[in-house]
Amino acid sequence: MEKNYRAELVGVLGDPVDGNPTGVMEEAGFEHAGLNYRYITVRVLPEDLDAAMAGVRAFHMRGVNLTMPHKINVLKYMDELSEAARVIGAVNTVVCREDGTMFGENTDGKGFVQSLTDEGIDLKGKSVVLLGAGGAARSIGVECALAGAAYLTVINRNADRGRALCDTINGNTTATAEYRPWSGTARIPQTDLLINATCVGLHPDGDASPDIEYEDIQPGMICCDVVFNPVDTVFLRRAAARGARCIDGLGMLVNQGCINYTLWTGQPAPRDVMYAKLKSEFGV
Ligand SMILES: NC(=O)c1ccc[n+]([C@@H]2O[C@H](COP(=O)([O-])OP(=O)(O)OC[C@H]3O[C@@H](n4cnc5c(N)ncnc54)[C@H](OP(=O)(O)O)[C@@H]3O)[C@@H](O)[C@H]2O)c1
Repeated sequence: MEKNYRAELVGVLGDPVDGNPTGVMEEAGFEHAGLNYRYITVRVLPEDLDAAMAGVRAFHMRGVNLTMPHKINVLKYMDELSEAARVIGAVNTVVCREDGTMFGENTDGKGFVQSLTDEGIDLKGKSVVLLGAGGAARSIGVECALAGAAYLTVINRNADRGRALCDTINGNTTATAEYRPWSGTARIPQTDLLINATCVGLHPDGDASPDIEYEDIQPGMICCDVVFNPVDTVFLRRAAARGARCIDGLGMLVNQGCINYTLWTGQPAPRDVMYAKLKSEFGV
């Protein structure tokens, strides 16, 4: 019998990337399903993306994730984009097809919306306040609007980025988006959902929380954090103290990981296995 010692390769390219836990989650899924796939976590500097993408081709990789700072710069290597990636203007997942072409998708926002669905939350007609207008916020804002959110308020320090996200939502979805500047302590308007899509509170600054008026958080409001390290962020703890229903960033992480798994392998992802691995990694 002829043996195959060659694994199918997927992975993530980014910088910094050392603390990215996606590999352990994906590999737990591959192992569970008996797939000979390996997920490699690779540090790639901005000036080396060209060489890294040539490497992706040369190594016959099945696909890659992109994280900071490559999600926009990778667009030029794509032969085709999903509708979401085109509207969002960024790619976090590349699928390398058999014919040698590369397909770019953005699964961050889809993973986020799925984490709400998992909790029985339907976005149809809901109002959303989004803190931040960076890569994660763009993906989440667009996907929330596509999932039926009626009204989005984008609060961001950088006005150009905040307005650009609102223009994207207003121009491509049926939702209405409005920009609010963020200087000093931000007031939070009455809303169904409040989402921290900034990096405030991320390790090693785990003691920080977004500078908002926490008194504005009402009991029953749904408060979500994209930050997953630490899982129990100061933002979520302060929101819970106000009686909010809190959703952490792990659900988004596992859900986008499951979508990527299926894009690369063509098989349904063993979500329970991958989620359990992630939780054990974070000791929750
Ligand atoms: N859970 C998941 O699956 C998942 C997936 C992707 C990303 N994430 C997390 O999402 C977070 C954001 O990532 P990203 O890719 O969107 O980063 P990014 O593109 O660099 O955007 C960062 C955002 O945070 C804002 N910000 C930074 N410091 C701030 C401060 N002190 N006060 C107020 N706003 C501040 C920035 O505002 P300005 O525009 O004003 O600078 C910008 O809107 C990271 O923590 C990342 O780990 C989680």
